[in-house]
Amino acid sequence: MLGNFTYHNPTKLYFGKDALENLGDELLKYGQNVQFIYGGGSIKENGIYNEIMEILLACGKNVIEDGGVMPNPTYDRVLKGTKLARENCVDLLLAVGGGSVCDYAKAVSVSAYCDGDPWQKYYVDFEDVTCKTIPVGCVLTMAGTGSEMNGGAVITNTAKKLKIGHVFDSDIMPKFSILNPEFTYTLPVRQMVAGVYDIFNHICEQYFSGEDDNVTDYLAEGLMKAVVSASRKALKNPRDYEARSNIMWAATWALNTLLKKGKTTDWEVHMLGQAVGAYTDATHGMTLAAVSLPYYRHILPYGVKKFKRFAVEVWGVKEDGSDEEIARKGLEALESWMRELGLTMNISDLGANEGMIEGIADAVRVMDGGYKVLTRDEIVKILRESL
Ligand code: NZQ
Ligand code: ZN
Repeated sequence: MLGNFTYHNPTKLYFGKDALENLGDELLKYGQNVQFIYGGGSIKENGIYNEIMEILLACGKNVIEDGGVMPNPTYDRVLKGTKLARENCVDLLLAVGGGSVCDYAKAVSVSAYCDGDPWQKYYVDFEDVTCKTIPVGCVLTMAGTGSEMNGGAVITNTAKKLKIGHVFDSDIMPKFSILNPEFTYTLPVRQMVAGVYDIFNHICEQYFSGEDDNVTDYLAEGLMKAVVSASRKALKNPRDYEARSNIMWAATWALNTLLKKGKTTDWEVHMLGQAVGAYTDATHGMTLAAVSLPYYRHILPYGVKKFKRFAVEVWGVKEDGSDEEIARKGLEALESWMRELGLTMNISDLGANEGMIEGIADAVRVMDGGYKVLTRDEIVKILRESL
């Protein structure tokens, strides 16, 4: 049964090959000072930087450049960005890049005028935003996180060896996001498939929880099938517009607050993956891939009905054998697709080792919405199996 909920997503999306044409009109809604946020240089190589800069200057903006934001943005970097935003009385944070740049912009938005220590307030105490914030707009260049249409901002605190996400409320979601699938063509294949698995896992995190027969389950299954189909096409031809546009759109819908409405969710794969990320700084989607199968195989007996449904509806497994046998075949099908994509399947290949296991286990947040609330011993066992 669906629980009660309010659905409100204020992000305005512009999608397609001409989507960037709308940036100028959006910029006119905000003041003079625009903090132009980007990553390590991909947008300079592929020309997107020049296109954006031309539009900013044509709109008469005073551009405050904030380039060099790293994948898995750190809290130290956020503090640097907040200083820049405050000193320049920034009116709009324009993030151009993947999830890291979008998340960073949201973290700067809520931290620039925060009283006290933003890390403590948002990432330890999970408090609501009470200070003035700066509007965020995004131009997306990588599909995966859904950050373009959600309130999530995942930040790594290197000193504390923690990677934590705060899901801020709708005021912090991007005011607008510009999605041109062609902007993702220059992504290295490794990043493309990491993004694909991130999308798929976002859907799984919301699907593998509860036993009801909700509209959400059907939406999730449709999205999962769309991601699998498009990923195979994009792998063969990375410039296949149909495939890249379907991946981009599926990424947005996988995590734009729709799927979780009215139901419980899990998110334990992300908690395991983020803890691995805090120790290794590895690519987000790969950390998820490396812990997923040991986790799902471990919890399968507690959620057999849903894992069987996953096998039959998403992977077309024949209903032959016991429920558990059918369910396990679904995970085999998942594994073979993951290997087809070339995902990293072990945390040791991401830089983790036996000596880190206890520390990583300490950094894992235990969630209670999945089929099994993990004990500390179970977390250690799953991490060891992921090595
Ligand atoms: O930094 P540049 O040079 O731009 O290169 C980036 C980066 O190295 C590159 N890239 C992006 N677009 C490109 C491109 N290279 C060539 N051509 C392009 N068009 O790709 C690399 C990865 O970028 P990044 O933004 O780090 O990837 P992603 O979008 O996967 O974001 C990952 C971050 O988002 C967080 C993750 O934890 C991680 O910190 N997440 C955010 C979520 C949210 N807001 O809801 C949820 C997710 O579960 C996730 O946790
Ligand atoms: Zn994710």
